Amino acid sequence: MYSEVLPYALAGILAVVGLYLIVSLASRGSKRARARWTWWEVLVYLGVLGSVTVLAATSFIEVLRVGTLHGWMLFLHMCGAGAFVAVLPLVAITWCEPSRFCLTGTGLSVTDRGPAPRFFGVSKLMFWMLLVSGFVVTMTMILSMLPLFGTDGLETLLAVHRYAGLVAVAAVALHLATVLMQRVKLA
Ligand code: HEM
Repeated sequence: MYSEVLPYALAGILAVVGLYLIVSLASRGSKRARARWTWWEVLVYLGVLGSVTVLAATSFIEVLRVGTLHGWMLFLHMCGAGAFVAVLPLVAITWCEPSRFCLTGTGLSVTDRGPAPRFFGVSKLMFWMLLVSGFVVTMTMILSMLPLFGTDGLETLLAVHRYAGLVAVAAVALHLATVLMQRVKLA
């Protein structure tokens, strides 16, 4: 079932990212200044991009090729998983403040008051989506290692893991697109 859904889901992610890029390039774009990234922020961001790329490539390629993850690809998936589990709390600490939504008189909105912000609407949303899905993707596998669930429970956890992983990949892809668009528009 998952291997049948996966190509459509990946095509959907590509379509959404492509649509976002086209719409943002066609629109006039925001001229609001953004704060410059520090070397630490760049490092943490590259950590997320690198680990999610390894996790997505190893799992998706194997699922599409043979239908399941095993052997060296599973080993590489676990290497990416180690990096991801280490980097996720760092991302949470580093980016949660600039990704905060602010309540104003008109309701939920982004603020441009105070020091120059780093992120706006879609980037902020994708950040929180990555945190939640990243937490789920990690906890499903950690719980699977504990002697708590039977076969049905483990299969359910793996199913949740697969779909939460897809959401995490979508969040990272769209977040990267927003960051790239910010760069292009400021150039
Ligand atoms: C963006 C992040 C991730 C994505 C996209 C992802 C994707 C996947 C997918 C699609 C599978 C299923 C392969 C199959 O059906 O055989 C899988 C399996 C697995 N993943 Fe992940 N994963 C991610 C993160 C993680 C993390 C953080 C861990 C460890 C904490 C992890 C550990 C595992 C393990 C051990 C399996 C094999 C489970 C089994 O076959 O019983 N993954 N992953």
